[in-house]
Parts: sequence; structure tokens; C-alpha cells
Amino acid sequence: MTAPVLEVDTLCKSFGGVHAIRDLSFEVREGEILGLIGPNGSGKSTTVNSLAGIFPITSGRLLLGGVQIDGLPEYARVAGGLARTFQTASTFAEFTVREQIMLGSNVTRTSHPLSSVFGFGRKADEEAVLEKRVAHILEITGLKDVAAKRVATISSAQQRFLMIATALASEPKVILLDEPAAGLVSHERKTLSDLIKSIRKLGVSVLVIEHHMALIMDVSDRIVVLNFGQKIAEGIPEEIRNNPVVIDAYLGEAA
Ligand SMILES: Nc1ncnc2c1ncn2[C@@H]1O[C@H](COP(=O)(O)OP(=O)(O)OP(=O)(O)O)[C@@H](O)[C@H]1O
Ligand SMILES: [Mg+2]
Repeated sequence: MTAPVLEVDTLCKSFGGVHAIRDLSFEVREGEILGLIGPNGSGKSTTVNSLAGIFPITSGRLLLGGVQIDGLPEYARVAGGLARTFQTASTFAEFTVREQIMLGSNVTRTSHPLSSVFGFGRKADEEAVLEKRVAHILEITGLKDVAAKRVATISSAQQRFLMIATALASEPKVILLDEPAAGLVSHERKTLSDLIKSIRKLGVSVLVIEHHMALIMDVSDRIVVLNFGQKIAEGIPEEIRNNPVVIDAYLGEAA
């Protein structure tokens, strides 16, 4: 078992009288793809938004690489290696796909695990490392052929992959994907599955929320299940699929 990259420790989040999350604890480990599932309104997005720093949490602790982050502003969490997809929507329609990805790399980092993988020093060969990384990101996100196109002109599925590509350019330790398959058709979901597995090969851990069960069962190493803001199960896909509590609360309805 590898070390945790991201730790959620007895997280509680209320909106007024609504207890969206209650005493939630789980971890995302190094090199792991963790699926987060549950019925509508069970608190999945609230968990991701708490991690990203969209709003203050009610109580509990959040740790990234062993460092407590719940008091930090959003940008500091990104700089610390936490990436998510939704904020990077194609605001820069005039940019090319490549430029938009380069923009994602423009994040102040104190350390980044991948520079050592490429074996370059940070300063002198920074450009070379970046070029190589962007080329690799274009490859695994299937955007290589549209790299020179303007963001406004690519398909909506390609825009979704571009969001992930931009998040990856920030050299995260962990990436948070909230329903990345929404609006994708079958062959695009296959590309997404392959991409999520490629992200892990980059050394980046993944927390993925999805209602699409075939996809989540395929990509996840482990799955955490929420219901009414609480964790009701945690385990490998096979255990989750056969867990009567999960079937009763969620999978029965999804199937
Ligand atoms: N900003 C907010 N203000 C008030 N209530 C909120 C807010 N965000 C979420 N909630 C409430 O918190 C609960 C959990 O919502 P959340 O969006 O986390 O669910 P979810 O599991 O992501 O659902 P879905 O599968 O539909 O995306 C719901 O009752 C929701 O109405
Ligand atoms: Mg949600």
C-alpha cells in the first residue's frame, strides 16, 4: 500500500441547516485512481469543492502530501499540487489548444515531482521540460491533431479533454475530476478511461466522481460510496459492486 497523497479527515460541511457532509474520512494514495460515487445530492461535489477551497469547511482536516491545506486559499492548493477541472473552462476562446495548455503550466510551484523524472534542472532546461510535457499531454488527451486550432473551434468533447489537459499542465500531485464523462458518447468515454489510466502513469493520483458505472468500475483502484453525506462503503470495484448496502442505496437505482 502506497502513502496517502490526499487525506480527508472527519470532514463536516453544512450549508445553513443542511449537513451536506458528515464525518467523512478517506484518502487518495500515491499512484491511485479513487472513484467517488453515490446518489444525487449525496455530497460528492461538496467534497471536491471543500478540497479545492471553494468555500470554508465546517470542521475536520484536509491534507495534501501530509500538509494541512484546509486553511489555505484556492490558488495555494493548486500551487501545492491539487488540480481540478471545472475552473479552466474555455474562457480563452481566442487561444490555441496548445496555448491554453501552456497557460495551465503557469503556476508557481515550490517543488514538482516530474522534473526529476525528466532529469532536467528547473531553470536552464525549463522550456525543454515544458515542451516535452505539453507534447505528452497533447498525446494522451488525444488533442495532438487540434493543437494549433483555436479553442472556440474544437468540439465540446475536445473542450472537456482540454480542461483535463490544462489541469495536468500544472504538474499536480492529484487531480480532481467531477463527472468528466458528462455529455460524452460511448467512444469518447473509452478515450476518457484510457486518459484517466494514462494520468496515473504520469505519477498523478486521481479522484474521480462519475455516475457512469461501467467507467468508474473500469478505471478505479478503489471506490468510496457516499449516501446522505456519509461514507457507506469503501473497497475495490468488485466489493462495491456486490455490497448489498451500496446496491440498496445506489446501484439498484443506477442499474
Ligand atoms: N453551495 C451550496 N449551497 C447550499 N447547499 C448546497 C450547496 N452545494 C451543495 N449543497 C447541498 O449539499 C448537498 C450535497 O450536494 P452535492 O452537490 O455535493 O451532491 P452531489 O453528490 O455532487 O450530487 P450530484 O450527483 O447531483 O452532482 C445537497 O443537498 C445540495 O443541495
Ligand atoms: Mg455533483
